Amino acid sequence: LAAQSDLPFEETLAKIRSLLPEKLHRPQVGIVCGSGLHTLAAAIRDIIEVPYASIPGFGKSTVPGHKSALAFGLIGPGEGVPAVVMLGRLHPYEGHKLSTVVYPIRVMARLGVKNLIITNAAGALNKDIAVGTIVVIQDHIALPNLTGMNPLLGPPVGPEYPRFLPLSAAYSASLRRLAFLAAHKLQLGRDALAEGVYAWVSGPTYETPAEGRMLRNAGADVVGMSTIPEVLAGKEEGLEVLVLSLVTNMVVIPDKYRSIREEVEAELAGKAVARRAEEVVSHEEVLLIGKQKAEVMKSLVEKIVDLIARA
Ligand code: HPA
Repeated sequence: LAAQSDLPFEETLAKIRSLLPEKLHRPQVGIVCGSGLHTLAAAIRDIIEVPYASIPGFGKSTVPGHKSALAFGLIGPGEGVPAVVMLGRLHPYEGHKLSTVVYPIRVMARLGVKNLIITNAAGALNKDIAVGTIVVIQDHIALPNLTGMNPLLGPPVGPEYPRFLPLSAAYSASLRRLAFLAAHKLQLGRDALAEGVYAWVSGPTYETPAEGRMLRNAGADVVGMSTIPEVLAGKEEGLEVLVLSLVTNMVVIPDKYRSIREEVEAELAGKAVARRAEEVVSHEEVLLIGKQKAEVMKSLVEKIVDLIARA
């Protein structure tokens, strides 16, 4: 198999570096902003935004609430840590190839990034996890990966890449530790953060109740349409990976279905029928919670970056 030599790494890196001052050429931390979370950019000093459209090999994010730029700058107290932030990510459901979705992650690794912090908006499957909670991801279930939609399918990026990447310890224990320490230092309160398993679905449809129930029964705590391709590429590139999921909604999984048969039988027997309103999830709801909690996510990420720099 030929390597993925069509990836224009040299061109991409040259273009990016040509737009940056020397001090930002080697970012140590990479951050991916999820839906409604691009205000993470406010954590960056001396910011330089490079639109995806001007970077060879980059796709365009088309989702409302997502921007389309790489932001370079310094995060944290003192001199600050050089960082690169993806303002807006790419999803397979937008029609991007999986190799395009993960290309920015591979570029970050080539720029010098060692630690990757990925944020996203997710729905809660676990009833004990409330809307607004930030879930520190400890593992994942990726049905698309198991059924032929794995971003690492195909020729390897280069001969030095592992063919069979182990994922038993994909989520960096040391970075997760820093996340909880950071929350403690920020006095966020014990309920602000949880630990859990992320289920990746391709979207763009939200889950049916039966699908939500299946994922919950399979052991997933939250579900979302992003992140896992980035995690896989990050691990393949040798990065330490941390995933923070902001719960923006509860996945609609009624304990009991509305029974049309019971309603008809009650109607025929002349009894009153109690009709329940059907619940649905909306992207507006997802963006609203993202906006409300963006400040907490920003302080948390900032503090984690600070702890990484001191470690
Ligand atoms: N399902 C899938 N993806 C999501 C959800 C959800 O309920 N909320 C935010 N992203």
